[in-house]
Amino acid sequence: MFWYDVCNSGMPRVCAGNQRLTGRSIATVGDAPQGLFALRQALADYLGRARGIVADAGQIVIVNGSQQAIDISARLLLKPGDGVVLEEPGYVVARKAFEALGAKLIPARVDANGLNIRVVSSRFPKPKLVYFTPSHQFPTGAVMPANRRFELLDWAEKHNTFLLEDDYDGEFRYLGRPIEAVQSLDKRNRVIYAGTASKTLSPTLRLGFVVAYLREVGAPCVSQAGAAPGLPQLG
Ligand SMILES: Cc1ncc(COP(=O)(O)O)c(C=O)c1O
Repeated sequence: MFWYDVCNSGMPRVCAGNQRLTGRSIATVGDAPQGLFALRQALADYLGRARGIVADAGQIVIVNGSQQAIDISARLLLKPGDGVVLEEPGYVVARKAFEALGAKLIPARVDANGLNIRVVSSRFPKPKLVYFTPSHQFPTGAVMPANRRFELLDWAEKHNTFLLEDDYDGEFRYLGRPIEAVQSLDKRNRVIYAGTASKTLSPTLRLGFVVAYLREVGAPCVSQAGAAPGLPQLG
């Protein structure tokens, strides 16, 4: 198991597919600012196996946790006044990140199946982004079923909205096989996927990753993220 291997053999060895990395290769300047290429390659392989996500290393950016993934995505996509749909109740850290950018918050009450996009009223302006936690809604723990995932993707396409999938706790499933990440069902490149090692390894490691196909999260990620606070590795 990917995270188990990381734990037991040490990050550098896993990253190199069991080839030893020297201090020099870890510090490869060419890998900046998206993060160590070997780690991104290992993550691409893991995400394909575990979450059904088809991505290559070039579509992955290493960050210091989901919180930074949310912050970067918000900075890249939002202007003051843009609408953001948020789960209610939901993750306060995400709300604060959107608030700090002057976004207009559009709360959507969650039910037993997580975010229900149908409750978003048409009186709000068209939202630019939807932030949601489909694997384990925070704090209710609801798991979004497959039909609702497809419904959300259709809605995003119709409204020209991006989806920020926080796959918080997506690695844990006690009954049945995990439902594929929404990102893996996305045919229109609307989903930005945020993953973290905070639950599988430790929150003190500060290791997270973003998977995105968007033009917006390609090259601009480098310059914009460099301007974000707490980003020494992308500076
Ligand atoms: C909804 C949600 N997303 C993500 C995380 C993990 O954040 P990070 O990866 O920044 O530690 C948490 C932590 O509790 C959380 O509650």
